[in-house]
Amino acid sequence: MKLCLLSLVSFASLLSPLASASAISIETEYVPAGASINLGRSSLLSRVYSSHGNKKKDNWGNALEKDRKKITIRSSKHDRDDISDDFLWALKKANHGGLVHLEKRKKYVIGKKLDLTFLKDVYVKLDGELKFTNDIEYWQANNFYYDFQKSITFWVWGGKDIKIYGSGVINGNGQAWWDGFSGAEILDPKNKYYRPILFLTDNATNIEVTGLHLKDSPCWTTFFVRTKNVVFDDIYIDAVSTNVSSLPKNTDGFDSLNVDGLTVTNTRVNVGDDCFSPKPNTTNIFVKNLWCNGTHGVSMGSIGQYPGVKDYISNAWIENVTLLNGQNGARLKAWAGPSVGYGYISNITYKDIHIENTDNPVVLDQCYFNINETTCAAYPSKVNITDVNFINIYGTSSGKEGRVVADLTCSPGSTCSGIHLEDINISSPAGSPSLIVCDNIVGDIGVDCIPKSQVTD
Ligand SMILES: *[C@@H]1O[C@H](CO)[C@@H](O)[C@H](O)[C@H]1NC(C)=O
Ligand SMILES: *[C@@H]1O[C@H](CO)[C@@H](O)[C@H](O)[C@H]1NC(C)=O
Ligand SMILES: *[C@@H]1O[C@H](CO)[C@@H](O)[C@H](O)[C@H]1NC(C)=O
Ligand SMILES: *[C@@H]1O[C@H](CO)[C@@H](O)[C@H](O)[C@H]1NC(C)=O
Ligand SMILES: *[C@@H]1O[C@H](CO)[C@@H](O)[C@H](O)[C@H]1NC(C)=O
Ligand SMILES: *[C@@H]1O[C@H](CO)[C@@H](O)[C@H](O)[C@H]1NC(C)=O
Ligand SMILES: *[C@@H]1O[C@H](CO)[C@@H](O)[C@H](O)[C@H]1NC(C)=O
Ligand SMILES: *[C@@H]1O[C@H](CO)[C@@H](O)[C@H](O)[C@H]1NC(C)=O
Ligand SMILES: *[C@@H]1O[C@H](CO)[C@@H](O)[C@H](O)[C@H]1NC(C)=O
Repeated sequence: MKLCLLSLVSFASLLSPLASASAISIETEYVPAGASINLGRSSLLSRVYSSHGNKKKDNWGNALEKDRKKITIRSSKHDRDDISDDFLWALKKANHGGLVHLEKRKKYVIGKKLDLTFLKDVYVKLDGELKFTNDIEYWQANNFYYDFQKSITFWVWGGKDIKIYGSGVINGNGQAWWDGFSGAEILDPKNKYYRPILFLTDNATNIEVTGLHLKDSPCWTTFFVRTKNVVFDDIYIDAVSTNVSSLPKNTDGFDSLNVDGLTVTNTRVNVGDDCFSPKPNTTNIFVKNLWCNGTHGVSMGSIGQYPGVKDYISNAWIENVTLLNGQNGARLKAWAGPSVGYGYISNITYKDIHIENTDNPVVLDQCYFNINETTCAAYPSKVNITDVNFINIYGTSSGKEGRVVADLTCSPGSTCSGIHLEDINISSPAGSPSLIVCDNIVGDIGVDCIPKSQVTD
């Protein structure tokens, strides 16, 4: 006891020399106008305590928020007052154990593309608003490009141990992009009107985003590439147009490519496209307490699109999802046809899924995309689909597909097995009983179903 007290006193006497030493070292380096670096008392104290090895760490073994050096930058005066250089400076300054704070009720405008792939152990506390300029000409000439579905983005986040959290907003300022879109589909080979993705990680390990509102993305809202362990919790995503003649397009909530470990919890998505849609090579997926309105659903894939390329999606647990007013609910899709790829979808569970007013509440499609039965039989899918569970799926369809509320279509002769349905209670406004369609599935699926050819209405 006595010893402990003694050492505290001597550490306290160390504090002022330490603080002034750091102040001197900071004065000699460049600090942008309106920016500040705050080492903070707690950070000095904890540095002292850490020599005793009793300092608390975050879930990745890094310093907690209170123990971090804090960097602030000036905010923007208006929507063209670009602070991207200041933000980049702050991230470099905060890298390796610090924190960038973007303050409440302040706006920070990003008008230049940012390569943020150098990060290692950094926190961004976003309580204000990060907003992108809508200078379409600039962004179409300056961006990061990905071959996969010809994607572009404003910025790329990469590195290791990155937390972005707070009560703030990342605003894609999408209206101008949607207004200018006019049918320029991303998959159209002649299309040159590319729209940026709002948040993209590449070559990242451990990235956690919590509390934020991701607003009005020009294109997909998030896309994770070559990333390991990404967690989104307590997020609100929306894309809402103020112009009835130009609605948001392709503003998917979540997309991924070559990702291991993708977790989305306690999140609401209000966009007109996919809500949650892992793409090729995504494994160990966990989704819980997700709400999707007006979306194209929670969709595994599509995969197996590109000739000669192997794709897979495996180990997904999707629980307690509400899907309202959408095109699809719980869906899996794999390509078939004359020139496509191969791979597998396996070990996927959808459990406790509440679906209302949705055109296709449950879909398993191994004859994707837009091919008829004859072509699918001639060129069956080379994507194996195995061990898929739909448990406790309930609610209503929109009636658009008549009485059919679940459509499970596999390719003849393909591997499509271990498909299990249980406690399915979806009614259709088109009449009862509602119908479950199943074609070319190997083994019993656990519920009564009929081939598509027997559907009469
Ligand atoms: C991925 O990031 C690591 C550091 O985190 C780096 O060493 C490696 O070169 C990066 N790989 C690519 C392909 O960029
Ligand atoms: C609304 O969108 C249409 C179609 O893209 C466009 O022609 C029109 O200029 C937009 N209206 C406004 C007020 O921006
Ligand atoms: C299911 O998710 C909703 C949010 O969509 C949440 O309000 C509810 O508490 C969750 N239920 C359970 C049992 O966790
Ligand atoms: C859900 O989406 C519909 C349009 O599809 C919209 O009219 C409605 O306001 C949305 N509901 C909520 C709660 O956001
Ligand atoms: C998926 O992973 C396989 C290797 O297992 C690789 O050959 C393929 O290119 C990847 N697919 C994509 C779309 O990156
Ligand atoms: C299936 O996926 C779950 C996660 O949803 C995982 O815990 C389990 O180990 C996987 N099973 C196999 C056989 O890989
Ligand atoms: C698909 O299943 C077939 C039959 O079991 C097997 O021969 C093939 O290797 C599997 N393909 C993949 C990509 O797993
Ligand atoms: C199926 O599609 C193929 C290719 O588009 C077409 O040639 C064929 O006539 C179609 N068959 C039927 C029965 O519609
Ligand atoms: C199916 O859902 C309806 C409407 O919510 C409900 O009245 C009915 O009891 C449910 N049936 C079963 C078997 O759970």
